[in-house]
Amino acid sequence: MTGISIELSRSGIEQEKLDEIRNAAEAAAADLAEKKEAFNGWVRWPYSMPDKLLDKLEQEARRIRSLCEVLVVVGIGGSYLGTEAVFSALGGRREGYPELVFAGNSLSGEYHSRLLRSLEGRNFCICVVSKSGTTMESRLAFDVLKKALYDRYGQSAAERIVAVTDPVNGILRQEAEAMGYSSFEIPPDIGGRYSAFTPAILLPLAVSGADVRAFVRGAAEMAKSDFVQGAGLEYAMTRFLLMNSGKSIEAFEYFEPSLHGVGEWIKQLFAESEGKDGKGLFPVTMTFSTDLHSIGQFLQEGSRVFFETVIRIREAGEDVVIPDGKLKGRSLNEINALAVDGVINAHTKAGTPIIEISIPRVDESSLGALMYFFMMTTAVTGRLMKVDPFTQNGVEEYKAQIRALLGQE
Ligand code: PA5
Repeated sequence: MTGISIELSRSGIEQEKLDEIRNAAEAAAADLAEKKEAFNGWVRWPYSMPDKLLDKLEQEARRIRSLCEVLVVVGIGGSYLGTEAVFSALGGRREGYPELVFAGNSLSGEYHSRLLRSLEGRNFCICVVSKSGTTMESRLAFDVLKKALYDRYGQSAAERIVAVTDPVNGILRQEAEAMGYSSFEIPPDIGGRYSAFTPAILLPLAVSGADVRAFVRGAAEMAKSDFVQGAGLEYAMTRFLLMNSGKSIEAFEYFEPSLHGVGEWIKQLFAESEGKDGKGLFPVTMTFSTDLHSIGQFLQEGSRVFFETVIRIREAGEDVVIPDGKLKGRSLNEINALAVDGVINAHTKAGTPIIEISIPRVDESSLGALMYFFMMTTAVTGRLMKVDPFTQNGVEEYKAQIRALLGQE
């Protein structure tokens, strides 16, 4: 049991509308499960990945931990967002484990210069993650950081680099083999944003001390559950019908700032999977209460272009008690839980369709289950929209423009 539940009764979508497209949604899910789709290796991966791979990942994580106090994770898109999502949701750096810092997700000289400065006097290693091995942002950052590593450690720098990439193709694979870096494989039939349960994300998370077995187990339980084929499909269909009814934005909302990274991961997954051929729901993410005091006005009274997907956490983590005033003796988490209800009531009153996804707590297992749930949802909704959820050709255009500006056509 994953402990995740979903409430669709405030979505405004009637049962008979869902029934009309149920066969299509079930057929899409069956095609995914039966390997009739390219790049659908992720569907079975959480429960079919070899146990030996997890042993090897944990062994490598121990080796890296023994070498450094900072692990620089170089990657962009699906090659780092899952790591940052889980690392930050679990509270960031753990006592006795390396800190994870991220590079190669921008071309900012200032960001990378500050990062290099922050590494001075601290032992560091690099985990470079790129399925293709050719992505410009991560390649350039890797070259910059690798130079710093070799300047510091000489030839022994190679033992501080671990590459996660395609098993055969790409220059990163060739370099890893030529230079003797430790390396792991991203399965060829799993694309970037669907790679959360592969070494791309598991290796750096294991270094940070996260329980990657529990993370994969959560996803595997979700993958095998009736919930994903039942409520998961209902959610996928509801989103599709909301889009057809004129909604163009899905606002994902959470009341824990530590879920900010999960929101960033959600944005990429949904936007790159659905936003093509002039279709798709535009995903935005909001942290409450922060955004209640900025975008909250629009949500209550602005143009009705969106619906909301609220992520509720049933058992919050640490807490503090109010020491004074009218609410003396009550706790912040208790009030935060009431805020979830308050916001749902207020926005329902404003006529906004609301979907509520409830997770038991923020831990590795729940995050694994939730992330798998979203992967399945967007893949099925994409199919209902008649787009291919596993391509991202639109991302190529900006790269071509930069190459032209660099004179590298
Ligand atoms: O979902 C995707 O496939 C992309 O967002 C990739 O993850 C991203 O472009 C990074 O690609 P790569 O891992 O090849 O460097």
